[in-house]
Amino acid sequence: MSATLELPAATNPASESRPTEQRLLFQPIKVGRFELPHRIVMAPLTRSRARQPGNVPSALNACYYQQRASAALIVSEATQISMQGQGYAWTPGIHSREQVEGWRLVTDAVHEAGGRIVLQMWHVGRISHPALQPDGMPPVAPSPIRPESMAFIENEKGEGELAPFVTPRALQPEEMPYLVAQYERAARHAIKAGFDGVEVHGANGYLLDQFLCTGTNRRTDAYGGPVENRVRLLLEVVDAVTKVWDAEAVGVRLSPMGAANDIRDDDPLTTFTHATRELNARKLAYLHVVNPAMGALENKTTPDAAAMQMLQRIREAWHGPLMLAGGFDADTAEQWLREGRADLVAIGRKFIANPDLPERLRTHAPLNADDAATYYGGGEKGYTDYPSLAQERGQAPKACVDESWR
Ligand SMILES: Cc1cc2nc3c(=O)[nH]c(=O)nc-3n(C[C@H](O)[C@H](O)[C@H](O)COP(=O)(O)O)c2cc1C
Repeated sequence: MSATLELPAATNPASESRPTEQRLLFQPIKVGRFELPHRIVMAPLTRSRARQPGNVPSALNACYYQQRASAALIVSEATQISMQGQGYAWTPGIHSREQVEGWRLVTDAVHEAGGRIVLQMWHVGRISHPALQPDGMPPVAPSPIRPESMAFIENEKGEGELAPFVTPRALQPEEMPYLVAQYERAARHAIKAGFDGVEVHGANGYLLDQFLCTGTNRRTDAYGGPVENRVRLLLEVVDAVTKVWDAEAVGVRLSPMGAANDIRDDDPLTTFTHATRELNARKLAYLHVVNPAMGALENKTTPDAAAMQMLQRIREAWHGPLMLAGGFDADTAEQWLREGRADLVAIGRKFIANPDLPERLRTHAPLNADDAATYYGGGEKGYTDYPSLAQERGQAPKACVDESWR
């Protein structure tokens, strides 16, 4: 593929003038085993609203996801595969029986509304804190390198609080098969919980990304050093998960050139092209990439050449459906699909505030603004109380009135 490296600084208002049926965003697409009615995916969004104790999904969470079931596909919020995998207060897990039952409420609610949902499987590695770890142990990581910045924990009063990260403990080689087995167990639990598939979270500076990237991986064993070693854990996890699920129900999320959670790689082009080639050989449903040109998209500036080269390399190395996330609106999403840079887009913050986002984008309706103060923690406010168009017009009752989660 030889897509040009430049995008116009101003976005192309192409979609405004095109009838819906001509907009690529609204063309159906087959992604692995999923027949998707359009190309607007709900990105994974941590909301820190699992029921306590036990980090259990509840009817409140089911309501939130059901409201958003018109997404082509929902990628669930990141969900810890084990207690050790947790990095923030009140995030849901998929390691206990109660959690599996809780997720069943969510998947049933989404299916009842005609949607599809995959589970994003998460181990945060060093992005945690002893307060969240079993027996107050330090978090684990490829190497004992403390992240800059702060962890989000619960204080004694039950409130969210920031606390400095600690130096993590390096995983021992003999622990690696156990870690992989925890992903496999989570994948099995996802079947019991009624998910349609799973997404392996290899992005945003969490455990698998920490192994991939040179800034966090100083190991000298089979999991460190050359890129073939640094990608090993990701591939072992994918291979374990695809023993449980058909590859056509499994996606992977990567964030090439990402900086989230103090992650850094000396040579992202080599690292992520290699990882993509290896994943490509596994014939997964999709590759989900956090767009390295996200900032430029949002600011309507020209993306830098390195980011566009990275994307181009990934597009060449990955032959299946490619999902891109980060900074898209209706026009830039349409433009990027038309330019062949992606097959689907995942949208995050706009989905927080607009439960019926695809319909709003389809009809060029105004969007509700999201409130960052209510992203993490709390109840319905900033979660299930953003109105749909039908509710705004008084044509639909307040959705999902269910108090049973309290
Ligand atoms: C509140 C919030 C929570 C997020 N949680 C996750 C998550 O659980 N897993 C993940 O891979 N990305 C997560 N992200 C990143 C989003 O999936 C997405 O990549 C990002 O918001 C950029 O897309 P947007 O510009 O459409 O919002 C989160 C982002 C936000 C704003």
